[in-house]
Amino acid sequence: MKKIKTAFFCQNCGHQSPKWLGKCPSCDEWNRFAEEEIRAIDPAGPAGIQFNEAPLPIDEIVADEKERMTTGIAEMDRVLGGGIVNGSVTLVGGDPGIGKSTLLLQVVQNLAEKDLKILYISGEESAKQIKLRGIRLGASSKNLLVLVEIDLDSIVKHIKEISPRAVVIDSIQTMYSPVLTSAPGSVGQVRESSARLILLAKKTGIPIFLVGHVTKDGSIAGPKVLEHMVDTVLYFEGDSSHAYRIIRAMKNRFGPTNEIGVFEMRNNGLIEVANPSAFFLTERPEGAPGSVVVPSIEGTRPILIEIQSLVNPTNFGMPRRTTIGVDNNRVALLAAVMDKMCGFRLSGHDIFINVAGGMKVDEPAVDLGIVASMASSFLDKPIDKGTVVFGEVGLAGEVRGISQMDIRIKEAARMGFRRCIIPQTSSRNGSAEKKMECIKVNSLKKLLEYLF
Ligand code: TYD
Ligand code: MG
Repeated sequence: MKKIKTAFFCQNCGHQSPKWLGKCPSCDEWNRFAEEEIRAIDPAGPAGIQFNEAPLPIDEIVADEKERMTTGIAEMDRVLGGGIVNGSVTLVGGDPGIGKSTLLLQVVQNLAEKDLKILYISGEESAKQIKLRGIRLGASSKNLLVLVEIDLDSIVKHIKEISPRAVVIDSIQTMYSPVLTSAPGSVGQVRESSARLILLAKKTGIPIFLVGHVTKDGSIAGPKVLEHMVDTVLYFEGDSSHAYRIIRAMKNRFGPTNEIGVFEMRNNGLIEVANPSAFFLTERPEGAPGSVVVPSIEGTRPILIEIQSLVNPTNFGMPRRTTIGVDNNRVALLAAVMDKMCGFRLSGHDIFINVAGGMKVDEPAVDLGIVASMASSFLDKPIDKGTVVFGEVGLAGEVRGISQMDIRIKEAARMGFRRCIIPQTSSRNGSAEKKMECIKVNSLKKLLEYLF
C-alpha cells in the first residue's frame, strides 16, 4: 500500500513543517500545529486553477463595469464598491452572533425578489432555523433555495445543476472535502474548499459569499491563507452587545478598501444607517471636557467621530495608556510630544481614550483631535461644541497637512459645525472654506492658544 505523506500545518497561518512545533515560526502562535495529509496538487484537478485559455491582448478582453448586481442595500453596495461583481468571491468575517448570517440572508432575499435564483448553503443551521430567521427578516421568496450540506462534492454538484445567480456558503469552516482526511475547519479543509469554490466562481461567473469565523484573538480563523485567495474581505467591527454594526472592506479588488457600511441591528434584521455622522454624534456630551469631534475619512466618505479622553493623575509609578479605537502607541507618542513641546505633565497621568460608537480610526488626520481632547481633559476645560479639529502632528510639535481637506470641511458644515481648526499647509481649492470659519495652525502651541 502506498504510504500517505503527511506534514504539520499551523492552523492559524498555514505554515508547513515536517515535524510538530510548539510555536509557529511564521506567525508566532503557540500550539497551533496539526497533522494533515499532503497531496501534490493536480493542476487539472479541483484544487488547481487552470482555465486552458490562450493569452489575450488587453483591449480585446470584454469587461463591463455595469455588470455589477446591486444588493438593494445601499450601505452594502458601498462596501462592495458599487454592487456584487460577477464571479467574485467575498469573505464575510466577524465574531459569532454579530449578524453575518442575518446580513447575507437579507442580501440574497433582496436579490431573490428581483427574480434571481439564489442558493443559500448552510452547514451550521437546519433549514428550519434558517426559515425562522427568514420569517423575522421577511425572506420568503420562491427563488431563494436553502440547502443544508457540508460535503463539498455535493455542493459543487448542486451549484452546477441549479446555476444560481449568487451563492452563500455559511460557513467555510464547516465545509468538508472528502479528498482530505482532516476535520472540517482545519487549514487544509478550509483551503481546499475555498480553492474549489473560488475556481467554480471564476469559471461560472457566479458570485459566492463565504462566511468566515473569527478566532478569539480576532483574526479570521485559519483562513489567513483565505484572505489572499478571495477578492473581497468584509469584516464586522464593534461588538454584538451594541445595537450598531460596522462593516469594513479590509480588502477589495473591485473598490476602495477601508470603506465602511453602518447598520443597526433591530428585531427585523440589519437596518442601514444612512447618515453615519449624525449617528456617531447622537450621544455626545456637549460641554464636557475631553470630548472633541474629528472628520475622519473612511474609504471614500468623511464621517464625523467623537474622541473622548480622560486624563487623571496616576496612583501608581507606571501611568496607564488605555485606548479603544485609536492606536495606543500613537497616543503615547502624542502625549510625549505634548509634554516636551507644550509643557504638559502627562507622564504623571493615566490616559484613557475612546472613540465613541465603537469606530476604529487609524489615519494620521485624527492626531490633532487626540491632542485637543487630551489637553481639554487635562486642563478640565471643554472645547467649543461647534468646532471640529483635524491634522497630523509631527514629533517637533508641528501640525502637518493632510489629504482631502475639502470633503472633511463640507461634512462638518453639513452637520452644523461652525468652525474648524486645520493645518496651515494643506492643498485645497478653497471653495469649502467659505462654508465655515477656518483657523489655520502650524504648531501645537498655536492650537492650544486658540482653544483654551
Ligand atoms: P447571526 O446572523 O446569526 O450571527 P452570525 O451568523 O454572525 O453568527 O445573528 C445573530 C444575532 O442577531 C442574534 O444575537 C440575534 C440577533 N438578531 C436580531 O437582533 N434581529 C434579527 O432580526 C435577527 C435575525 C437576529
Ligand atoms: Mg451564522
